[in-house]
Amino acid sequence: MQDTATPAAAALTSEQSARAVGALRDTLGADVVVLPAEFAGRKHADWSRTPSADPVALIRPRTTEHVATAMKICHQYGQPVVTQGGLTGLAGGACILGGEVALTLERMNGIESIDTVGAAMTVLAGTPLQTVQEAADAAGFMFPLDLGARGSCTIGGNLATNAGGNRVIRYGMMREQVLDVEAVLADGSVVGGLRKMIKNNTGYDLRNLLIGSEGTLAIITRAVLRLRPKPHAVSTAWCGLPNYDAVTTLLREAQERLPAGVSAFEVMWPGYYDFVLQRLHELRAPLEGRHAYYVLLESNGADPERQAAAFEDFLADMLESGVIADAALASSEADAAAFWAIRDAPGEYPRLIPGRVSFDVSFSITDVGEAANRCEARLRARWPNATILVYGHLGDGNLHIVVHEPDWPPTTAPEVQQVVYGVTGEMGGSVSAEHGIGLKKLKVLALSRTPAELAAMRAVKAALDPLSLLNPGKLIPP
Ligand code: FAD
Ligand code: LAC
Ligand code: ZN
Repeated sequence: MQDTATPAAAALTSEQSARAVGALRDTLGADVVVLPAEFAGRKHADWSRTPSADPVALIRPRTTEHVATAMKICHQYGQPVVTQGGLTGLAGGACILGGEVALTLERMNGIESIDTVGAAMTVLAGTPLQTVQEAADAAGFMFPLDLGARGSCTIGGNLATNAGGNRVIRYGMMREQVLDVEAVLADGSVVGGLRKMIKNNTGYDLRNLLIGSEGTLAIITRAVLRLRPKPHAVSTAWCGLPNYDAVTTLLREAQERLPAGVSAFEVMWPGYYDFVLQRLHELRAPLEGRHAYYVLLESNGADPERQAAAFEDFLADMLESGVIADAALASSEADAAAFWAIRDAPGEYPRLIPGRVSFDVSFSITDVGEAANRCEARLRARWPNATILVYGHLGDGNLHIVVHEPDWPPTTAPEVQQVVYGVTGEMGGSVSAEHGIGLKKLKVLALSRTPAELAAMRAVKAALDPLSLLNPGKLIPP
């Protein structure tokens, strides 16, 4: 495919922007379109700490029609737009570069309906993930997407980033949790709908194109989510393991032998485990002693008695054969929550390690151990005193690496990135397993995508958003 330059959003003069904002406010009203003096002090940066400018106006739609009208006007005036959900993104995708209006989904929050026969829930895109999880539970189902930012992140943000999290190994990423998506394109047209079919082979799958597009192709306004049977039996264990071979053996054996399969397989290296236990006094060590790897293993299914016995037998076998060096079995929901609290500690990073450099890379499961070793050894050789935290959703080959040293000059972050992305490139990994590209990974996207793929992405963007109004400057490198 011939490469065409990504159309950059034409920078509007402040007079042109003021005319666009005036037209938005005249049509949608001062309740929906808010001016800078009225939202002073509001946060516009996400969790990645990418610096953000203030938007030229803030649009707070209540309905899909509001979003469609806003986009028609922005299209007419050439006014760029950044869509914002819960601002928990880790790639800078929701930040303002300068000159854009921000469109927040905060008022489009709520569950519209639950279809208990079709196992489907229709929600507005600004609904927080945790609200959806709790409503699914109350209706006798499970909504399986789960991640540390569950209380603040929105379904629209989860869709726009194709979020992953803790249960991908069993249920897949956000893409797998949705039956249909309603969205507004750059010219204000509404696409998709609220269909509840699992099978729908009617040409190009727009829904899957918009999922993971990070606000660059459309504004997602509503979605029909797919609910799963509620697991009535959840078995959870915290395991200490002697080496990486043992980790992959435990994963394979658990997948083969546990009657309900594996619903989470989270791995933490000792640097992570020691750091969070030392810093967060509310956490309790599940095991005595230190191990080369820690695994949080979860299996969820339908049959409490059969499953609990099989889970215990399995752990006993793994201990006897030396795959596991030590294990703690959760005997209550409180025990399981205490194990998960250790894994959810990244929610405290802003307080504990504000100046961190973080990564979200993936490799084949075979290579994860070696990739982590190479990264850690090269980082340690260069910065002997740095804090290096390694952990991740190992069942999906997804590694998170966090590096920090107090008083680092700003020039250090690119050097740290060179080390980790160097290993990612040489081992054929991905520069983003689940957090997306946003602004943070624009420069390294080409390590994971070929020139032909980047050209195809630019062609899609140019076809759906020819004026580059939606989240310009994000996801697609210039
Ligand atoms: P925002 O941050 O507001 O936006 C993210 C991107 O989506 C931006 O590009 C924005 O423009 C776009 N966007 C938002 N809403 C819409 C919409 N309605 N239509 C179109 N575009 C939109 N991610 C994982 O995948 N796995 C994890 O395990 C995980 N753990 C996390 C743990 C913590 C403590 C934190 C803070 C974040 C974590 N994340 C994780 C990051 C994850 O991407 C976000 O939490 C979430 O998916 C983003 O939702 P949000 O509503 O906050 O989106
Ligand atoms: C996690 C986030 C950082 O898994 O993705 O903790
Ligand atoms: Zn993660």
